[in-house]
Formats: sequence, structure tokens, C-alpha cells
Amino acid sequence: MSGKLLPVLLLALHLTAGSVRSQGSSQDAFIIQYLERRLAQMEERLNLCEQNTVAVTQKTYDLSSEIRGFLSTVSILRSEVRNQVDNVAVRVDRMERELEYLENKIPTQSDIEMEEALLEQQIKAAEQEQLKKKAKIKVEKDCSTALSQIKSLKIVKRTGDTSGSWFKDPSEGSAKVYLLSGIRNNTLLEYVSLQSFAERTTTPPAKVVQLPFDWQGTGHVVYNGFLYCHKAETPNQILKVDLLNATVVDSTLLPGAGRLPVYSLNPNTYLDLAVDELGLWVIHADPEYGGNLVITKLDKASLAVEYTWDTQCRSRDAEGAFLICGTLYVVYNTRYGGRSTIQCLYDIHDTIHSDESPVLFFPKRYTSHSSIHYHPGDKQLYAWDDGYQTIYKVDTRRNDQVTAE
Ligand SMILES: *[C@@H]1O[C@H](CO)[C@@H](O)[C@H](O)[C@H]1NC(C)=O
Ligand SMILES: *[C@@H]1O[C@H](CO)[C@@H](O)[C@H](O)[C@H]1NC(C)=O
Repeated sequence: MSGKLLPVLLLALHLTAGSVRSQGSSQDAFIIQYLERRLAQMEERLNLCEQNTVAVTQKTYDLSSEIRGFLSTVSILRSEVRNQVDNVAVRVDRMERELEYLENKIPTQSDIEMEEALLEQQIKAAEQEQLKKKAKIKVEKDCSTALSQIKSLKIVKRTGDTSGSWFKDPSEGSAKVYLLSGIRNNTLLEYVSLQSFAERTTTPPAKVVQLPFDWQGTGHVVYNGFLYCHKAETPNQILKVDLLNATVVDSTLLPGAGRLPVYSLNPNTYLDLAVDELGLWVIHADPEYGGNLVITKLDKASLAVEYTWDTQCRSRDAEGAFLICGTLYVVYNTRYGGRSTIQCLYDIHDTIHSDESPVLFFPKRYTSHSSIHYHPGDKQLYAWDDGYQTIYKVDTRRNDQVTAE
């Protein structure tokens, strides 16, 4: 039985093994097919993913360039709006000036001066114990007047360039008015009086003085019939000119001057001359003192330097300055024109202190002064405000601390 059964068993075994083997290889094929399918699917998905990524990147790019476009449109719009606002401001300013000018031309109102209720500004007197005997100078006549406010303004005329200077000869008994239009010329105009200067009709000046050289800037003065001015094409030469025959009678070079404009808002003026109760002064900015203003007292006869003081007043954002009784008052503004304010002062006697004084405001909201000249007799400022010849009346008070020395 075993002899007969064994081959059968073997056959059966063989068959079984064969079927197992054939069954195994078909399973492999199935798995491979399956895996291939999965691979293909994954590849497809990867492709899709890649495409999506490209699309998203493209979209992001489009979006960002769109946003960029929007942003530039917005900034263009913004600058347009800003320009329009600026234009409107300039027009309002012009209108204001025109109004003041016209109001001033109405004869019945010509005596009425516009007064603006300002903050009652009082310069606090320096404390007695803080009086420092710093600068003991000998001047022919000392005085003790301090500025307390800039009270009112009157626009006298509109003539000449946007920059220029005009003033009265401050020497006693002189009524003559001088006008130097522009920032460089060889000509000045002389009028017999303020009234003749202000006349509505275009009155010819009493005299047209032609000099044999050009003056420069807006810092000139006429004192006792002599013009003191900065000679053009020199950094720091001051000339004294006899106006009767337009001849130079004296000249000097001001040490340290001529490297910086005196006031950053008036870039063509390198020397600013001034007259106060004590005499003739010149103001300049010195780069060696951080661009601060330096004041020099000049002998009006010989132009010799008498004394020099370095002040702590900066020239940056300044548009002008003037002296009253040996105290320098510096006027600041913005380069767009705005409200002029006195924010720094320097007293050669050291009795008035800048840090104890409040800011003094000019009456008008929009100004752009190219020159400001104080007249000690009139107690008035003669200013050139963007082509308008303007007078400011000032209030002064006694500064008794000077006599306490
Ligand atoms: C010089 O001033 C006169 C009178 O103000 C003026 O007519 C003339 O145009 C000025 N010249 C220059 C170059 O500005
Ligand atoms: C100019 O006038 C002054 C005073 O009138 C006189 O002293 C001077 O000699 C004159 N100069 C010239 C060059 O005519």
C-alpha cells in the first residue's frame, strides 16, 4: 500500500506545491501591479501639486504686482492731494496779504493798524542775583530797553522782488527811506519820506543811486547818509558808501565771516548789518561756533571792529535778526513760510536771558521775511515780507537791571 500510496502522495504534494508556487507568482504580479498603479497615482498627484504650486506662485506674483500698482497710485494721489493743500495754503496766504495790502490802501483806514490780540508776552526780567558782570563795554550812550512784544503790523507797499530790504535812515532828523530790491544789484532807490514811499501812485523815487559795484544779500543799512553793505563777489567785505556821490569812503574785511549764510532761510545774505541805540553792528554765522550767530560792534566812522560776541543762537531755521539796546533778537520760521517767532536772544550786558524769555510771536500767521531792520527812534521794524514792505510796531519796556550794574 505504501508503494502505491507514496507516488500518489508525492504527486499530491507536488500538485499542492505547484499550485502554491503558481498562486505565489500571481500574487507578486498583483502586488507589483498595485504598486505600479499607486506609483502612477502618486506621480499624478505630484504633477498636480506642482501645477498648483506654479499657479499659486503666479497668483501671488500677480497679486503683489497688483498691490504694488495700487500703492504707487495711492502715493501719486497722496502727493497730488498734498500739492493741492499746499497750493490752497499759498493762495490763502496771498489772499490774506492782498487783503491787508488793500485795506491799508483805503485812505480812511490808513491810520488804523491791524492789531492782533496776541498772547500777552512779557519778557521776564532776569533775577537780580543772576546778574553777571560779563561784558563791560564802554558805549557812547547805554540804554536799557527790552522788547516785550511785536504789537501790530502795517503793510506799506508792494514793490520789487520777493527778496529785498527797505528801511529808514535811523540817524536823528532823517526821514529818508531806502529800498534795495533783490539779492544783488548795483542800484538803490531813495525816497524823501515814508509818506512819499507809500503813495499809491507809482511815485518815482527821489533819487536812483547807481553804485560802481554790486551789493549782495539783504543785510544793508543806511546810517547818516552812508550806505553800509556787503560787496558782491567778496566773502566778507563791508563797504561804507557816501550816497551823495556814490563813492566808497571806507571798507573792511570782517574776520571769520563769509563762509555761511547768516540765516539758513535766507541763503544769499552772508553779512547782516544793523543799527540800534548803541550804533552799528554786523551779524554773521560762524562755522567754528557750530554755525551760531556772532555779533560784532563796528565803529561807524572807521568800520573798525570794537567788540565781538559769540552767541548761542543758531542760524539754522533763522530768517532774520535785529538788535535793540545791545540785545540780539533772532527770528525763526520754516522754509515754507509760517509764523515768525523770536526764540533766541543774546544780551551783551547779560541781563536778559533767552531761557527765561517766552517765545515772541509776530502778528501774522504767514510770513517769509528776507530782511528785518529795527529803527531805534521809531521803535519799529521795517521788514520785507515776500515782496511786501511791512512795518511792525514793537512794545518795549525798561530793563532796569542794566542800571543795577
Ligand atoms: C536792479 O534794480 C533795478 C531797480 O530796482 C531794477 O530795475 C533792475 O531790474 C535790477 N537789476 C537786476 C539785475 O536785478
Ligand atoms: C563825495 O562827497 C563827499 C562829501 O560831500 C566829499 O567829501 C568827497 O570828496 C566826494 N568824493 C568825490 C569822489 O567826489
